Amino acid sequence: MTIPTNLAERASELRNLINKHNYQYYHLDNPDVTDSEYDRLFRELQQIETDYPALLTADSPTQRVGGAALDKFNQITHAMPMLSLDNVFDADELKSFEQRVCDWLNTNETQLYAAEPKLDGLAISIRYENGVLKQAATRGDGAVGEDVTANVRTIPTVPLKLMGDNVPEVIEIRGEIFMPKDGFEALNKAQVEENKKPFVNPRNAAAGSLRQLDSKITATRPLAMYCYGLGEIQGMERPKSHTEAMNLIAGWGCRISPELKQVKGVQGCLNYIQQLGERRDSLPYEIDGVVFKVDSIALQERLGFVSRAPRWAIAYKFPAQEEMTVVEDIEIQVGRTGALTPVARLKPVFVGGVTVSNATLHNQDEILRKDVRVGDTVIVRRAGDVIPEVVQVVLSRRPEHTSVFSMPTQCPICQSEVERVEGEAIARCSGGLYCPAQRKEAIKHFASRKAMDVDGLGDKLVEQLVDEGLIDDVADLFKLTVEQLSSLERMGEKSAINLINALQAAKQTKFARFLFALGIREVGEATARALASHFLTLDALQKADEETLLEIEDVGSIVAHHIMTFFHQPHNQEVIEQLLAVGVNWPEEQKIAADSSLSGKTIVLTGTLDQLSRSEAKEKLLALGAKVAGSVSKKTDYVVAGRDAGSKLTKAESLGVAVVDESTLVDWLNQEK
Ligand code: IVH
Repeated sequence: MTIPTNLAERASELRNLINKHNYQYYHLDNPDVTDSEYDRLFRELQQIETDYPALLTADSPTQRVGGAALDKFNQITHAMPMLSLDNVFDADELKSFEQRVCDWLNTNETQLYAAEPKLDGLAISIRYENGVLKQAATRGDGAVGEDVTANVRTIPTVPLKLMGDNVPEVIEIRGEIFMPKDGFEALNKAQVEENKKPFVNPRNAAAGSLRQLDSKITATRPLAMYCYGLGEIQGMERPKSHTEAMNLIAGWGCRISPELKQVKGVQGCLNYIQQLGERRDSLPYEIDGVVFKVDSIALQERLGFVSRAPRWAIAYKFPAQEEMTVVEDIEIQVGRTGALTPVARLKPVFVGGVTVSNATLHNQDEILRKDVRVGDTVIVRRAGDVIPEVVQVVLSRRPEHTSVFSMPTQCPICQSEVERVEGEAIARCSGGLYCPAQRKEAIKHFASRKAMDVDGLGDKLVEQLVDEGLIDDVADLFKLTVEQLSSLERMGEKSAINLINALQAAKQTKFARFLFALGIREVGEATARALASHFLTLDALQKADEETLLEIEDVGSIVAHHIMTFFHQPHNQEVIEQLLAVGVNWPEEQKIAADSSLSGKTIVLTGTLDQLSRSEAKEKLLALGAKVAGSVSKKTDYVVAGRDAGSKLTKAESLGVAVVDESTLVDWLNQEK
């Protein structure tokens, strides 16, 4: 078949265009065409390639969708071995590393290192010949790996063709394939929905996805790559330093870590560790440490390697976020709304930087799905501030005679029947405020900081007060006497007086806080605020029917139903009357001026404010009808950037969201008074 020359040209032009758009999208996070325009170009190229298969090239961006499934992976011998890294865990070990480097180099000078995150994924070596991706291999045992070319080709951040005119004949680019956190979560959600087993962590998900014999499956998985090294090179001199090498390949369209920095000596390394460590949980991917590499390639060559690890690089490992331990018991906690939550009592284990002895098992479905049993050895995970979680049972270590856990049919606290609404995951105690556990939680919530903010009334004290029979409901709090309180264990007269004063002070509150404090199901802070500013008085809210409640944005029929049920219950009416009788009060709500220029605007506060606190600024903005959001998106109207504003400011700038400084904010607030 003869191919029209103009089509051959067009195909090549389309490939370049699509590659350029991909680069903008995946590397610069700055798309320069709409999705539909991109799709149009993509389909046009696909059409040409279908009509004229001779025009299809191996580096065509259409070839990322995966091909025929394999029955096994071929083995590939690495042209240069793929090394591993030695680990250190603290500053002293890091110092010894530098000392060893200096000894070998016979110098006393502090070294210059390239520092980058240690990504938690799998190492890969990708071979480009004349700029075109020819082969991709896993590390394997370092000498021989597996041919995963078809799979690697499906990963959007991996260039199928290197850009630029200084690309050598042969170059092996090495790096880590990983799965970003958001992609991992989406994948696991889909796995569960399809009744498939979720992956234990992003690393396993990345490994499972890359080692698929069917590359069409890999193509659907959210994999990404950061490059961190070079293997074989032909037709070009090896760059002089790691930093230079990384900049060079970045110029060819390879993605390198944005965290790559040069640091000097152990102190520079420690500063880097500190700074990256603080951001560990907010990074979009998992890291398990930091890698330091002597930057100069000449020095690297002098240092060489022993067995499988280079003498010129070291991994500083962060505390592990997953550990194994034993489930000693499974207990049921009863929450404020009666929800029963199974909790695993664990043999204490140090994980994610703290000692963990409890982990939530969420609900019956979760516990059955994971089949966690008393006596099991489990993998516990704690990442950042997230509540520790049991990820998986280590079945090979299950002792004999364990039994499947089943949720109780009666509340373990008050023996009321347990209900589970069809289609809901949560089982609930039907005892309501008869149940001491629910009562305790309701009172804790009432006193909490964002509710009535009773200073000094902590969870333990509430439990003590309920257990001693001194209070039954929230109104009873205000009837407590100094004598009663000082009779409690570990409570002196001074603390008793302080608590009475704090309760007295808490009576003066705000309508929205009061509503939130009542603990109506599904009424969080934001809904409470919306209710307060819509109804203005408690009386009006109590009388509201469903239709009126539904007028409020964010209130749907379920929430409306919870609100009405709450106010119709005689017990709740009584408690509210008592609260008002003991003097709980709030200033009259003002109708939000609909003409306020900030009304309906979405504002994000970031950085440090000097003239007022973040919470003051938030309250004032809310009072003017603005919405205050936590993260920047296209829907944000303004970002108020205080001192040292960071990623939110950058994001606002990249999305073209208007940014104002603190003094503008203060002007706005003053004008609207
Ligand atoms: S360099 C010559 N840099 O860690 C040194 N490795 O424990 C070879 N890894 O197999 C590796 N991030 O899979 C290097 N920035 C980074 C890395 C990194 C993650 C992995 C890699 C390697 C393992 C060694």
